[in-house]
Amino acid sequence: MKEIDYKDLRFNPFTLIGDEWMLITAGNPQTGCNTMTASWGHLGSLWGHDDPTAVVYIRPSRYTKQFVDREDHFTLCVMDASFKPQMGYLGSVSGRDEDKIAQTGLTPVYTDNAVYFAQAKLVLICRKVYHAELQESGFLDPAILENNYPHRDFHTLYVGRIEKVLVRDEEYLK
Ligand SMILES: Cc1cc2nc3c(=O)[nH]c(=O)nc-3n(C[C@H](O)[C@H](O)[C@H](O)COP(=O)(O)O)c2cc1C
Repeated sequence: MKEIDYKDLRFNPFTLIGDEWMLITAGNPQTGCNTMTASWGHLGSLWGHDDPTAVVYIRPSRYTKQFVDREDHFTLCVMDASFKPQMGYLGSVSGRDEDKIAQTGLTPVYTDNAVYFAQAKLVLICRKVYHAELQESGFLDPAILENNYPHRDFHTLYVGRIEKVLVRDEEYLK
């Protein structure tokens, strides 16, 4: 994979995250890693002029949350459309219950205190800089609260400082 400057990236963040989805992955060679599919998140700037950040939202029940909480880094992997079935599987089965990464044939690559998948076409390596659980008192639209949190199992949001961007080909470049 080739490392590029985040400013050279070209894509639609709405369709990239919302439609193509991404894999949130964390771990280390000693403990192994876990991954989950995510279609909620944001990319942008925060707390600095040259400070690219990603925000992801992880529900407390996700096994991946334990890995993200333990590690200083997490990665976001965008996969080719041909991996959609595997992403559906990684987003419906828990790594607590089976070795789901082995089932998909994805190859973890450990580097820079982070882990991503060799088959990814775009990788954002993020250093955690903030985390917080969503608060009931913050919801201004009661429908969003009731539709998403009938059990009040609020997502934790993680802000990651994007430290490295890796691409497989020119697809995401200007
Ligand atoms: C398309 C799709 C998008 C998802 N987006 C999120 C998300 O943004 N946040 C979240 O907490 N769970 C999300 N999930 C659910 C997790 O991926 C799913 O619960 C997964 O099995 C968790 O695996 P784990 O227990 O091994 O971490 C999504 C699932 C799918 C299929």
